[in-house]
Amino acid sequence: MIPYRTEYLSADPAGLAQAADLLRQGQLVAFPTETVYGLGGDALNGEAVAAIYAAKGRPSFNPLIAHVASVEAAQRFVEWSDQAARLAAAFWPGPLTLVLPLRDGHGVSSLVTAGLDTLAVRVPAHPTARALLQAVDRPVAAPSANPSGRISPTTADHVRAGLDGRIAAVLDDGPCGVGLESTIVGLAGEPTLLRPGGIALDQIEQVLGTQLHIHQSGDLLTAPGQLQSHYAPEAPVRLNAHTRQGEEILLGFGPVDCDVNLSADGNLTEAAANLFATLHKLDRSGRPIAVTPIPSDGLGAAINDRLRRAAAPRG
Ligand code: TXA
Ligand code: MG
Repeated sequence: MIPYRTEYLSADPAGLAQAADLLRQGQLVAFPTETVYGLGGDALNGEAVAAIYAAKGRPSFNPLIAHVASVEAAQRFVEWSDQAARLAAAFWPGPLTLVLPLRDGHGVSSLVTAGLDTLAVRVPAHPTARALLQAVDRPVAAPSANPSGRISPTTADHVRAGLDGRIAAVLDDGPCGVGLESTIVGLAGEPTLLRPGGIALDQIEQVLGTQLHIHQSGDLLTAPGQLQSHYAPEAPVRLNAHTRQGEEILLGFGPVDCDVNLSADGNLTEAAANLFATLHKLDRSGRPIAVTPIPSDGLGAAINDRLRRAAAPRG
């Protein structure tokens, strides 16, 4: 990864404009929200989203939350519903994330959704986050701005301790107020609490006028494997292949002879950005999928994690 001289920007008009420019150029910028600092990247740019995983050193791909400035901005990317409208009217801007079906023509990188057909969206309340999102005028994917396995940052100093030299900039606007991540509610099917957080369950139930289903093991983050069945392609997947067997379609990496290449240059960021969309496309071919070896350094760890899940025996 290219080492950065991380810039520390203040939350004034000049700092906000620079942060917005960096995001629009595909760079990573940590920014304050009312819950925790987020590590932001342009959600429409697959390579920017791949860089988020690289900077965090995350060993697996988990779907990310797309942050937007307004309800109208959210509606460009997800199928809105009456329940979504009620929760948004009550709690947005604020620490509530809604998971909704993706809309046709959404343009969001499939690395944001980890290949799912739903998107998590939230309008944060922090004035600096809102001003930034308004200036960027695109959805910003942002997990908490900490290296994988460390606790979420609630000050710019926490971000500096974990990510200095790994990202383009930190927009510093003091400590976060809530200090607890957003509550996540799934609205793609039965209303479901996917992660407890900054807004209490009973408040949400009151607005919806119904009880929420509780996701079995609470925080999806603690068990990314739960999403395994959604991730798996229909077709069988064979790893570490060097040649095609039978009807197989060969997915390659680097300078190899194959049908589709994740990155002919052997660039792991490019490969990560292409991964989910490519698997969906190959799956539609109806042929079994073979994959050539991919190195496990950097983003390769997460790519291989995803491919192992895809190749795991199905029950
Ligand atoms: O308060 C917050 O939500 C902070 C700030 C930065 O906004 N962000 C945050 O992101 O906590 P992260 O990446 O640490 O957690 C996102 C959670 C994960 O548990 C992920 O599995 C879930 O959201 N998630 C994202 N998209 C999803 C989807 N389509 N379906 C189900 N769960 C989803
Ligand atoms: Mg987190």
